Amino acid sequence: MSSPSKSAGSSGQLWSKGKAPDADMLRYTARDDYMLDVELLPFDIRASIAHVRALARIEALAPEQATQIVEGLEQLLVEAEAGTFTIAKEHEDGHTAIEVELTKRLGETGKRVHLGRSRNDQVLTAMRLYEKHALANLAALSSNCASAMLSLAETSKDVLMPGYTHLQRAMPQTVGHWAAAFAEGFLDAANVLDNACETCDKSPLGAAAGYGVNLPLDRAGAAAELGFSALDLNPLWSQTSRGLSEVVLLAAAWHAMAVVRRLAWDLSLFTTSEFGFVELPDDFTTGSSIMPQKRNPDVVELMRGACAVVQGALNEVMGIVALPSGYHRDLQLTKAPVIRALRETQATLALVPSLVTRLQFKPDAMARAVSPEMLATDRAVNLAKDGMAFRDAYKIVGSEVLQALADRKPPAPPHAEDVQAGMTSVKARVSPGAPGALQLDELAKRLAQRER
Ligand code: ARG
Repeated sequence: MSSPSKSAGSSGQLWSKGKAPDADMLRYTARDDYMLDVELLPFDIRASIAHVRALARIEALAPEQATQIVEGLEQLLVEAEAGTFTIAKEHEDGHTAIEVELTKRLGETGKRVHLGRSRNDQVLTAMRLYEKHALANLAALSSNCASAMLSLAETSKDVLMPGYTHLQRAMPQTVGHWAAAFAEGFLDAANVLDNACETCDKSPLGAAAGYGVNLPLDRAGAAAELGFSALDLNPLWSQTSRGLSEVVLLAAAWHAMAVVRRLAWDLSLFTTSEFGFVELPDDFTTGSSIMPQKRNPDVVELMRGACAVVQGALNEVMGIVALPSGYHRDLQLTKAPVIRALRETQATLALVPSLVTRLQFKPDAMARAVSPEMLATDRAVNLAKDGMAFRDAYKIVGSEVLQALADRKPPAPPHAEDVQAGMTSVKARVSPGAPGALQLDELAKRLAQRER
């Protein structure tokens, strides 16, 4: 048995029965908790303070003991926020680190902190506090994105731009209309994030291992102190809900990232030479290590890809929570995807406004792309307003458009020298498989082998 003055076992675990656990097993089960829990430490410590005060209120802790522990925890909070309180690798997790450190500093009294709780409700509470904090931040960032798009909409409401369906020219719009769509999208995302925050706004503290404890815990008082608006009432449901609120919050983060992804896709197209609607300044583009002329919108592409990171995290958590009632260690695996996805969403949303203010629209290129047939719908509706049945108007305008397109001059043929220079370039690229050395016979051979 470990000596009674030790909080953690001789090998560093709160649950040690004296015999050191297998090192590989421990490493496998503890994983990256010693790093991930650093993010949770300030929340875990705040929850511990509320827990100790609540224990004192029901006289499960003497007032002077509670004061001493709270002061110790407050000191740890300062250190955690300054980044000087870290988690040693031999401690399984942040919860262990807090109790071990408290006991090192306060002696016997430190060992009283865990009365009436389990690491199961401890981690749930820390996660919920962390998530509420992160969601409020993401909602604010999404609002900032909405403001940036709204400012753009205000300054560009008279700048003509083609509107597309199926990526085919559809009807004229303005940059203001396009930007206002995203302002509304980010506003919707902020509301969805607020709703997810409400889902996380219930306190699990005091659910203990999932079955309550034989103490009249002041759960409501602790919840109020931590800023929760309600309690997870049933301890078993509280444990079982771990991962479910994470699904809700990841879906909310994904929603915001799906708005970003759409914006990124549009910009990815609009910055091509083929569209030529938008340019990014040099300080927002990157170059190529081989092609000297390149100015690439990498930032836009990573914003688009970041949505998949969040989607992957959501999928990961949905897979993990397929469990029977009660705590299972599988649930620990929900922590990494949640933290990863929230960080990714935070970094992406934070950069969107800077990107938006740098967009340099090219009104002439956009106006050139608004071709006359895009006015066909308005014209048909106008005829209908004058009394014609819409379907008849549609047909009349349809044949007018066909005629106009047939009468249109064909585009000028490309300059013969440019074509020649391009072909010379291509044919000179003789590295195997390149356009000057396609090796179609090899490809045909592989195909034939497959078909044999
Ligand atoms: N790291 C653990 C988790 O995230 C803490 C809870 C451990 N509880 C247990 N019964 N082993 O779930």
